[in-house]
Amino acid sequence: MPTDTENRELISLPTAELLRLAPFAGDFFSSIGLELPAEEISTADYFASLDAELLEDLGLERQTLAERFTAFMELLENLKSGIDSAHIESITIRGGHDKSGRAEEFDLTVKPGEVICIVGPTGSGKSRFLADIEWMAQGDTPTGRNILINGAAPDPSQRFSIEHKLVAQLSQNMNFVMDLTVEEFITMHAESRMVDDISSVTAAIIKLANDLAGEKFTPQTPVTALSGGQSRALMIADTSCLSTSPIVLIDEIENAGIDRKRAVHTLVDKRKIVLMATHDPILALMGDRRLVFKNGGIATIIDTSQEERANLVRFEEMDAMLGAVRNALRNGELIGKLG
Ligand SMILES: Nc1ncnc2c1ncn2[C@@H]1O[C@H](COP(=O)(O)OP(=O)(O)O)[C@@H](O)[C@H]1O
Ligand SMILES: [Mg+2]
Repeated sequence: MPTDTENRELISLPTAELLRLAPFAGDFFSSIGLELPAEEISTADYFASLDAELLEDLGLERQTLAERFTAFMELLENLKSGIDSAHIESITIRGGHDKSGRAEEFDLTVKPGEVICIVGPTGSGKSRFLADIEWMAQGDTPTGRNILINGAAPDPSQRFSIEHKLVAQLSQNMNFVMDLTVEEFITMHAESRMVDDISSVTAAIIKLANDLAGEKFTPQTPVTALSGGQSRALMIADTSCLSTSPIVLIDEIENAGIDRKRAVHTLVDKRKIVLMATHDPILALMGDRRLVFKNGGIATIIDTSQEERANLVRFEEMDAMLGAVRNALRNGELIGKLG
């Protein structure tokens, strides 16, 4: 799989060679309205040779083309990398230290099928913890934590090849590079995953995303026109249908304007490890365990008890009731006696 440096070199390859190494590169040109370059010229030379008037008509700037090409190729490589992602039996988080340098006194091992929730006040280090896992920290982040895969430190090549997808981050990248419709984007992703029945998978992802998103969008909506909530929903649907990533990281989806409980049920999968930062009591109690963060460190680890689980049923009823009131208010109804 090409690395970042190799991606930068892709731009210097003759088009024929480029397409052999990365067949989806052709989608880059069509996505911004350019024709495929001639076989023997490189992408860099092609950009340099483009007519200024044509670029103006397409609303493109010559200086940014190379950057967009590289970002596109990196994004597609990231999406694709699940195909050969390593088999994970466990991840272990070796404690580091909190913001005052106090040691975290635990080693936490998580296995596929487990859902771990991350709770704590704003600024307590929840996102930092997820980032440590995403980057497979080896004592080289501000927290000093170490992440082990199947009991051992990942070697440097493995560290950057295992797919560990942070949903939020992906949606930001996506907005940056894509001039595609939702349908084109998902189709391209499904192609890169070598899915058999691309059109039905694509339709399923778009339907699921629409079920999750508060406001609807169509397959023809440009990716760049999606709201934050809609692109989150699309990424969640996409991750659950196409990703073979063994680890799913979820950072506070409750503010994203999506059906959060369904989103989590959609993502939770027996073969995956799910780590989720949340302020939502219902989501927090869905986990098997929760890590309580204070001052940048894990202060306590609590197993979700039977009693808490029993309460969860009640909280879900209360939540459903509040949801109904919210809808009634939206529809201009009067709120009568609650039953
Ligand atoms: N153990 C730590 N040591 C040093 N800085 C930390 C530590 N944990 C978190 N931080 C920093 O504290 C800030 C807030 O953390 P963050 O993870 O964003 O909090 P939260 O997601 O809980 O709101 C960030 O700048 C983060 O990098
Ligand atoms: Mg955060």
